[in-house]
Amino acid sequence: MNFDTLFHRKGLGGKKWDEAHIHTGVTAERSLPMWVADMDFQPPACVIDTARRITEAGDFGYFCRMEDFYASVAWWQENRHGWTIDPRWCLTTFGLGNAIAITLQTFSQPGDAVAFFTPVYHEFQMKTERNGRTARHLPLAKEGGKYVLDWDRYDALMTGAEKILIISSPHNPAGRVWTRDELRSIADFCVKHDLLLISDEIHNDLVHPGHTHIPMAVACPDILDRLIMMNSASKTFNLAGLRTGNVIIPDETLRRRFAHAIGALDISPNLYGVRMTQAAYSPEGAAWVDALCAYLAGNAAVMAEGIAQIPGLSFMPMESTYLAWIDFSGTGMAPGEFTARVRDDAHIGTSPGAPFGTGGETCLRFNIGTQRSRVIEAVERLQVAFRDLQ
Ligand SMILES: Cc1ncc(COP(=O)(O)O)c(C=O)c1O
Repeated sequence: MNFDTLFHRKGLGGKKWDEAHIHTGVTAERSLPMWVADMDFQPPACVIDTARRITEAGDFGYFCRMEDFYASVAWWQENRHGWTIDPRWCLTTFGLGNAIAITLQTFSQPGDAVAFFTPVYHEFQMKTERNGRTARHLPLAKEGGKYVLDWDRYDALMTGAEKILIISSPHNPAGRVWTRDELRSIADFCVKHDLLLISDEIHNDLVHPGHTHIPMAVACPDILDRLIMMNSASKTFNLAGLRTGNVIIPDETLRRRFAHAIGALDISPNLYGVRMTQAAYSPEGAAWVDALCAYLAGNAAVMAEGIAQIPGLSFMPMESTYLAWIDFSGTGMAPGEFTARVRDDAHIGTSPGAPFGTGGETCLRFNIGTQRSRVIEAVERLQVAFRDLQ
């Protein structure tokens, strides 16, 4: 596993490289796409070998042995996160965006409100609105340069229409790994306001050395009757295109309702998604993830150091993920201006902050799940694009 080896994805049909111009506006041949959340790494050999074996066998018919797959999900949760689950609690969807949409449709009504702590993964808002629900922003505060929950404000922002709270744990876009106390306070808030809690833990494995992710079900087992847990191998092993997500629901009543919804839609997993996830959830996969997390932390350090040299830019310290969140408010520039410099001068395709909700307007999200040389290149280009500030 050499994460430094360049993986040339251009022309392979991946959205990040081949549609960067459409989604981020970068046009130069030498553009660096640092936007949508997948990495420029191939998954570990155990995963690719599995895909190869399936392809060579040529049997793409209906398949069996889902219990082996669910056992591997349980093994991974137990070994990586200390969460003991019954494999029968697991359900499979077409990824977690799909799982969130199903949850909204199953457990709320059009016109209900869905709350989340902003800024946060922009699709929480998109899914909420596309499903005819109202988004309720609960803005995060900043303390010591990091996002924290701002409990003095949230009760007053609730209207009574809220039925569901969605959290990103760890947090996209800023990489916070919520502590046990923070998770406890979120759980208590859900009880107080009678909310169903979706704990979207898609980034659970991408935790940098020195930090520990705690699954919500482990931190607060007393709220299982209002908790829908979600995770996936997609971010961890760079398998987003397989469209395979794990929904783990310990409570039988909630699980039955969710299972009914996916049955009604005839959502059933695909062969490659199941078998490749199963291969990833293995000791070999675990060793690869350990090395990956150390590498990502190295990328974060390079980015942090480089950004610190540009007055007015502030880099939120990363505890997890490969998503770097940079605040440009100190430049005094309007979002249009700093975004144009990053896009047209540095030729870097990023994700704009405004769609992440209240508090994101002055930020851009940079995906540093790529080779170190590309991160160094990005930093150098940013330093040039903003050199008049130095
Ligand atoms: C917090 C979070 N949830 C869900 C998703 C999307 O998951 P999927 O590709 O499985 O739909 C992402 C992708 O970036 C994410 O960051």
